[in-house]
Amino acid sequence: MSFLEELPRPFFVLAPMDDVTDVVFRQIVAECAKPDISFTEFVNVDGLQSPGREKLLHKLKLSENEGPVIAQLWGLKPENFYKTVKELVDGTLVAEANALQGKDEKRSFAGVDLNMGCPVKTVIKNGACAALINNRELAGEIIDAAKQAAGEDFPVSVKTRVGFTTIDMSWIEFLLSKKILNMLSIHGRTAKELSSVPANWDLVGQARQLRDSLSPSTLIVGNGDVMSRQQGEELAQKYKLDGIMIGRGIFHDPFAFAEHSPWARWSEAQKLELFRRHIELYLDTYKKNERRFEALRKFCKLYISGFDDASELRARFMETKTPQQVLQLLN
Ligand SMILES: Cc1cc2nc3c(=O)[nH]c(=O)nc-3n(C[C@H](O)[C@H](O)[C@H](O)COP(=O)(O)O)c2cc1C
Repeated sequence: MSFLEELPRPFFVLAPMDDVTDVVFRQIVAECAKPDISFTEFVNVDGLQSPGREKLLHKLKLSENEGPVIAQLWGLKPENFYKTVKELVDGTLVAEANALQGKDEKRSFAGVDLNMGCPVKTVIKNGACAALINNRELAGEIIDAAKQAAGEDFPVSVKTRVGFTTIDMSWIEFLLSKKILNMLSIHGRTAKELSSVPANWDLVGQARQLRDSLSPSTLIVGNGDVMSRQQGEELAQKYKLDGIMIGRGIFHDPFAFAEHSPWARWSEAQKLELFRRHIELYLDTYKKNERRFEALRKFCKLYISGFDDASELRARFMETKTPQQVLQLLN
């Protein structure tokens, strides 16, 4: 039995977001209001199983201050999915990633997710992620390789969309008919739609109905435009879903997973103090400058908003070039 079966219903998931859901931000979210599961950013298995491996390891750090974390993988070669999942299960990857920080981390990932939904052009032009919606043979081989490496106890899930250029529920049927996924997260848009139209939750509900008949043990998680726990609970109830995933909502409220968020009442000083905590954790975590600083600056939008003069202050932060400069400005 996997940990997924023991979670509350609905359970709440922090979505994978590249340049966002690293180990530092996941700890900030966990300190505000812990989700039941968090996802890493997507990590490329073909890169991990190449001489470029070390450059990607920072994405696979784990901290003891967070709840269960699922590692999200993407790539093209089933054999590299197999090797990487083996290394997730036996702890090799976390140990390598945390050793960079001089930490002997005993934790391991709670499961693995296969990205079959990212619509970014540079990714799909090679046939990965959302392009797999149109290449079921390869999608099937990747799922089989991951499941074989994971064994019975390590959950394997897929995160995807409801079609590539048009709505295509035969894709969801295909995934469910394999009957081996522990969880399926569905973003209620096609790849072509990117994020330009509202998510279609009726389609997420249809996917749940397909699950009921094709693969009753696969948990269904709905995703798209959820801003708060309360909204997620309503959608889960309406569509009879097991879980709800929140992505961009966390940029508007780091307490999005709380029953009652205090964020709207937080003062400027409180918000800037949380930003300071983020920067300090960042400096402590990436001692070798492993991350792109530009990604860190994006968080200004989260911490510096909702008070007088926020936009002027944000502009000053956007001119910084190092985390130390951000800290100086905060001081
Ligand atoms: C900045 C950013 C990065 C993202 N990176 C990933 C990723 O690495 N893997 C993935 O499956 N989805 C990724 N997504 C998609 C989100 O996980 C989520 O499916 C999407 O934002 C819709 O949910 P939301 O409306 O709650 O944000 C990303 C989205 C954003 C905004």
